[in-house]
Amino acid sequence: MKILVIGSGGREHALYWKLAQSPKVTSIVCAPGNGGTDNNVDIASDDIQGLLNYAIEHKIDLTVVGPEDPLCLGIVDTFEEHGLAIFGPNKHAAQLEGSKDFSKSFMVRHNIPTAEYNAYTHHYDALNAISSMKFPLVIKADGLCKGKGVIICETHEEAKNTLYEIYVNKQFGSEGNKVILETFLDGYETSLLCFVSNNRIFPMETARDYKKIGEGDTGENTGGVGCYSPAPAFSNKVQANIDKILTSIEVGLSNDDFDFNGVLYVGLMIVEDTPYVLEFNTRFGDPETEVLLPRLQSDLVDIMMHVENDTLQQSHLQWDPRTCITTIVVSKGYPRGFDKNISVVLEDNGLVFHNGTQRTGSKVVSVGGRVLSFVEIGDNLVEMNAKLNNRIEKLEFENKAYRRDIGLI
Ligand code: AMP
Ligand code: GLY
Repeated sequence: MKILVIGSGGREHALYWKLAQSPKVTSIVCAPGNGGTDNNVDIASDDIQGLLNYAIEHKIDLTVVGPEDPLCLGIVDTFEEHGLAIFGPNKHAAQLEGSKDFSKSFMVRHNIPTAEYNAYTHHYDALNAISSMKFPLVIKADGLCKGKGVIICETHEEAKNTLYEIYVNKQFGSEGNKVILETFLDGYETSLLCFVSNNRIFPMETARDYKKIGEGDTGENTGGVGCYSPAPAFSNKVQANIDKILTSIEVGLSNDDFDFNGVLYVGLMIVEDTPYVLEFNTRFGDPETEVLLPRLQSDLVDIMMHVENDTLQQSHLQWDPRTCITTIVVSKGYPRGFDKNISVVLEDNGLVFHNGTQRTGSKVVSVGGRVLSFVEIGDNLVEMNAKLNNRIEKLEFENKAYRRDIGLI
């Protein structure tokens, strides 16, 4: 089979790496790919027409979509109209990630526990509402906003300024035309990714993502700078509540005639014994994929073809029981400004996925905030953390920054 992976991050390198292990695969390319994927095609991940032309011309048997933008632009609908097999949800289903109002309404309609919220299209109404709200308060711009549309405000003043930025300064352009005001939930977060085949849900293993840039979980939110899987086990009560949520999602997808195929990422906040859904993503997570796929013992091409043919069963997902952990090397300054095109000399024999790198000949440079995901698999988080830190210390990259406490807290 000829495979095309779309995207350029650590998630896509991990997908490329795992798919390439399938005996069914005769060739695999990544568009646009990064310094870790060796067969790259220079087509941007949101250039739907360019990707379609490539897939037709090169007789691609299966296209696997990494990021949310092409999904929300309707790449799956376009490919399917041309009779091409593609793994991911269609444009309608991708709104579960593409519009927070759409996904929150879905949750409320199907009794899926989530933070209380209201949606506002007028600045004046949102301003009025915050005057009687409790703080911290969560403000969310409705659209994708490159993953930066969630702002947690500690004070009324901060909330007022945030609304001004969104409505008047158009910080997120039209993606901020609608704003959600949401109750702040205080608990611990877990990511639960599920394969979905014709609206039926098949959970993968859990993962814990470290979102804060600073050690001790301090500082600004990032796309994720470390992760491990499985996350600590839930109590029976929490697990039973999560199972109920998954059933409600399944019923909701089916009752609303979704035709959902692909991956649904359920972002959970566990408050005492009660799990709430914070958000849905309609794709693999990054960095969750970098720790889930090394644990997946089953053939990923088989799983994706089962989704395509609506024959997937939970027993098709077999997992290595050990723990997989990643610490991500980022560019100093991330998630704010950082320099690019800094030389990266990687002489490491372990598993490393590239996030934001580019290769020219044998020379690799950094092009993103997240640069390399160093991965270990084993039984002891403390030992694996030490191994990761040792390996990363040897990396020659002038702008290197990373958290030394991934897996310890
Ligand atoms: P989202 O893009 O919806 O995942 O939000 C990004 C991050 O903001 C989440 O991973 C949480 O850490 C945080 N967040 C979102 N909604 C809430 C909420 N209602 N209460 C507390 N934290 C939240
Ligand atoms: N790890 C968060 C995300 O993929 O959106």
